[in-house]
Amino acid sequence: MQIAVVGSGYVGLVAGACLADLGHDVIVVDNDQGKLAALRNGQVPIHENFLPELLNRHRGRRLTFSDDLQEAVRLSSVIFVAVGTPPTESGEADLSYVESVAREIAGGINAYKVIVEKSTVPVYTSEWVRKIILRHGTDPELFDVASNPEFLREGTAVTDFLFPDRIVIGCDTERSANLLREIYAPLTAGSYYQRADAIPQPDRTSIPAPIIVTSAKSAELIKHASNAFLAMKISFINAVASVCEAVGANINQVVHGVGTDSRIGPRFLNPGIGYGGSCFPKDVMAFRAVARECGYDFRLLDEVMHINEDQRQRFLRKVRSALWTLRGKNLGVLGLAFKGGTDDIRESPALFLVQALLQEGSKVSAYDPAAMDRSREVLGSAIKFADSPYAAAHGADALLILTEWEEFANLDFSRLRSELKYPIVIDGRNLYEPEVMAAQGFTYYSVGRATCHPDGVPAAMSKNGKKA
Ligand code: UDX
Ligand code: UDX
Repeated sequence: MQIAVVGSGYVGLVAGACLADLGHDVIVVDNDQGKLAALRNGQVPIHENFLPELLNRHRGRRLTFSDDLQEAVRLSSVIFVAVGTPPTESGEADLSYVESVAREIAGGINAYKVIVEKSTVPVYTSEWVRKIILRHGTDPELFDVASNPEFLREGTAVTDFLFPDRIVIGCDTERSANLLREIYAPLTAGSYYQRADAIPQPDRTSIPAPIIVTSAKSAELIKHASNAFLAMKISFINAVASVCEAVGANINQVVHGVGTDSRIGPRFLNPGIGYGGSCFPKDVMAFRAVARECGYDFRLLDEVMHINEDQRQRFLRKVRSALWTLRGKNLGVLGLAFKGGTDDIRESPALFLVQALLQEGSKVSAYDPAAMDRSREVLGSAIKFADSPYAAAHGADALLILTEWEEFANLDFSRLRSELKYPIVIDGRNLYEPEVMAAQGFTYYSVGRATCHPDGVPAAMSKNGKKA
């Protein structure tokens, strides 16, 4: 099928490349000429597993790039809208890009089209998109508006797209539902998975992918409710971690005990320095705003956000409690991205903490496997960019772990000790076992677990080193 995807950001580019891999002909449209030129030249603008392979496979063939939205609409049966929906001052989603794209799409409708929202948008957006297109004088029989929310995590977006837990299509007419079913048929009927060149199936996924057909409004709500629920899970466990710290319990043990209840599940229960990224902070706020507008005061979401902010402050207090005053201290920082596996620093708690530490007068030397270039654009020369974890640790009063990169969970302890001025590690992502770090000679602070000292035993351990 001929498809247009509007917006070549994280979501649009991945969706475009994956739809091409399913066998469709895809035109990715963007109004940023620089981005288009880079994409046409074979550059891959984001750090995303398997994306370079897919772009290589389909660029210039099934996958083309254009700045002519109306032409792309004329050529396509289905138009996915994946432009940004940034938050406004008051926390609502700014839908002006969606609106201007909808207006332009209207001018290109020359036969039946389905316009599909892929960006995360508040409930009622599909209705507004429909109104905007009708205002243009378009025949109502010539188009439908549908919602097909994405559940892509950055870093694993390609496999999340091709091996989804579910595909949600919110369609108010059977005609539009059928077109969307057809687009996803290679995944829902399973033919994609038979192909020799299919992207390999990740663990913990099941195929073929189930499809859930709902109304457009329900699909819009499914997206906001899913993200808000996941954010709530993280804030919940962070709150429990704070209680663990107060009473000397171990959050890992608590998570294991809680997460094995199949009704709760073990995933998204990792405590840390709070959630970040381009979705959770924005979507929880936007969902809160939508609910308020609809007359429901969703105060639970205020608390989710409050705990998330507090988690960063708690970490700062931990750094102060380890080092006393921060002015003039040299800090090694591991991680700048908002999570491991991505170069994205939008709403990164790591970056927030680095900026807070700089404000308190610390000097920071940081390393991140993928997010250094983007961080340099924000931080300039305010910090030193190191070329390895060990270089970041060199001469530091303490090492801070701020992003859950796998590479940070396998450091060479003796090399680290010899680089650090003092063997102090403050881990905001719980990448190590306190007992191991103590045995390796570190003073080790983490989240929701007792602090360990090299020459002592943690409060939660008995004298013989066995867990109490
Ligand atoms: C998307 C969704 O927009 C957001 O709602 C969801 O929660 C996460 O995914 P993302 O793909 O990260 O965001 O957006 P971004 O990286 O900002 O890319 C948007 C692209 O759309 C940019 O390349 C921009 O140039 C393009 N754009 C924007 C247009 O082509 N036309 C416009 O009018 C506005
Ligand atoms: C999220 C959703 O998972 C995805 O379905 C949606 O489409 C877009 O938003 P993403 O923002 O890429 O994806 O990252 P995710 O892996 O969900 O992590 C978000 C934040 O939560 C990160 O800062 C991460 O470090 C943090 N996190 C995640 C935790 O602190 N603990 C956890 O257990 C899981």
